[in-house]
Amino acid sequence: MSHVVVFGNQKGGVGKSTLSVLYAYWLANVHGQSVCVIDLDTQANSSKTLRRFNSEVSAVELFGAELDSGIAGGSEQRIALVPGGKRLSDIELARPETVIPAFRKNVASLAQGFDAVVIDTPPALGLRMSSALIAATAVVCPIELEEYSIDGVTDMLKTIFGVRQRYNPGLQLAGLVLNRFNPHSVRQKAAMRQLLDSYREFVIPARISTRSAIPEALAHGLPVWDLPKSAAREASAELKALFGLLQQRMDAAGVGASSTGVTA
Ligand SMILES: Nc1ncnc2c1ncn2[C@@H]1O[C@H](COP(=O)(O)OP(=O)(O)OP(=O)(O)O)[C@@H](O)[C@H]1O
Ligand SMILES: [Mg+2]
Repeated sequence: MSHVVVFGNQKGGVGKSTLSVLYAYWLANVHGQSVCVIDLDTQANSSKTLRRFNSEVSAVELFGAELDSGIAGGSEQRIALVPGGKRLSDIELARPETVIPAFRKNVASLAQGFDAVVIDTPPALGLRMSSALIAATAVVCPIELEEYSIDGVTDMLKTIFGVRQRYNPGLQLAGLVLNRFNPHSVRQKAAMRQLLDSYREFVIPARISTRSAIPEALAHGLPVWDLPKSAAREASAELKALFGLLQQRMDAAGVGASSTGVTA
């Protein structure tokens, strides 16, 4: 069974799209896996970065009737994008008992054609976030160590554990990921202490610093490690270390593609 990995946090601008895209590139380019990326955001940021991998299916269709035909996995490009867009806002007004099972079924059938599925979510705890968590095997929460971040984490964790208890017992919290980390910030140090006091066991022991190479690479539709610049090297090392740890945790949880041999 393939991993279905959601990048979720109802807080905006914490790195969900950035890390979704880079994790998909890491699986595809570094480990030769086939990856389907589903963008559930109306802003469609990850869709813009990955537009050259556009498939025939758009994300809003996954909430409707069963897909007639799947999307080809394992093509030469290895990544297939199911793009987001404005129409996704209609889903928030739809009947949960209709759209959630439809999404879950369509994602499960897509997952059969790929080594992994990555879902980028909007910054809200709405129906699309619930649908993603119900269809997933694992969730990654990117966070920034800023004021109020801990309150936001608590709400997100409540949602994740609520979904796990009621709808999806197989859902694993792969971890909280510290993005835009600044070891010199007094504010971030204080927030870090608070985070570790409350949620130490969920925090991935890897950090992504603020690096201009990250948005620069994504603006070119490239993974950071393909940016021909020495400044991209530190960013790449941090990202690869993070993804390796996340993958280890997901494989150790006993679900998903442990047999594909992905390691750090
Ligand atoms: N480690 C980083 N270093 C530098 N810039 C970063 C880093 N992580 C994210 N960014 C930038 O911060 C902005 C927000 O990131 P991103 O769009 O991934 O967040 P998001 O959680 O998906 O936001 P939204 O909730 O609006 O969907 C983007 O411009 C992105 O390029
Ligand atoms: Mg986003």
